[in-house]
Amino acid sequence: MDSRPKGGPCHVAIIMDGNGRWATQRGRPRLFGHHVGARRVREIVRACPDIGVKYLTIFAFSTENWRRTQSEVAGLMSLFRRYITREAKALLAEGVRVRFIGDRIKLDDKLVRLMDELELLTSENTKVNLTIALNYGGRDEVARAVKRLTREVKAGHIDPEMVNEETLARHLDTCFLPDPDLVIRTSGEARISNFLLWQSAYAEYEFIDTLWPDFSKEIFAEIVGNYARRDRRFGAVTT
Ligand code: IPE
Ligand code: IPE
Ligand code: MG
Repeated sequence: MDSRPKGGPCHVAIIMDGNGRWATQRGRPRLFGHHVGARRVREIVRACPDIGVKYLTIFAFSTENWRRTQSEVAGLMSLFRRYITREAKALLAEGVRVRFIGDRIKLDDKLVRLMDELELLTSENTKVNLTIALNYGGRDEVARAVKRLTREVKAGHIDPEMVNEETLARHLDTCFLPDPDLVIRTSGEARISNFLLWQSAYAEYEFIDTLWPDFSKEIFAEIVGNYARRDRRFGAVTT
């Protein structure tokens, strides 16, 4: 039976926050929290078809996260490599198409190769579109898009007078994605920390206290269900 709520969000984006605090509360190193958090991702991706989410975008590492200790950054990079290697088969079998957004230039070659391979491996899948934001920052993304656009203007391929919102959107990392309908942030912080700035212009936001390692498919389903009851107006008046 199809249990999907009517009018549910097609694209949900999640700021997966609170791994460090979750570990600290248990007297464990922060990286332990990241490992438990990574395991949560599988459960949430699997829940998507049942609750009607076609696109899921998750924030894994921001352009500002390089400011953390060298050991936490190295631990996270190694976790990403392990996650991709370990999950590739299951993602393929479950119909998940994986794509990455963010600047790859600062990432190590081995990780970038694994990312490319996973994108290629799952490129025929259509059940769920999982986008992983890695070394992603909204401002950085807009700046890189403008750089690409100005190159095309300079080469004479685009008339600067014709540049509009749609032209810029086509040059963003997210050019293959619809805008997010709903952005969820865990861990009680009510800020967006440079995530999908352009794309979230009309997104609904849900800030919840749960730390990411405690997030579950039940909580996910509840938030998605609540979304269906919201009245999105996009600047117009509805009765
Ligand atoms: C989110 O958890 C994961 C990343 C930013 C990589 P945090 O590591 O930010 O956890 P807190 O916010 O310190 O608890
Ligand atoms: C946002 O979380 C980035 C990710 C979840 C990957 P942060 O923990 O880095 O954000 P701030 O520093 O609290 O704003
Ligand atoms: Mg945090």
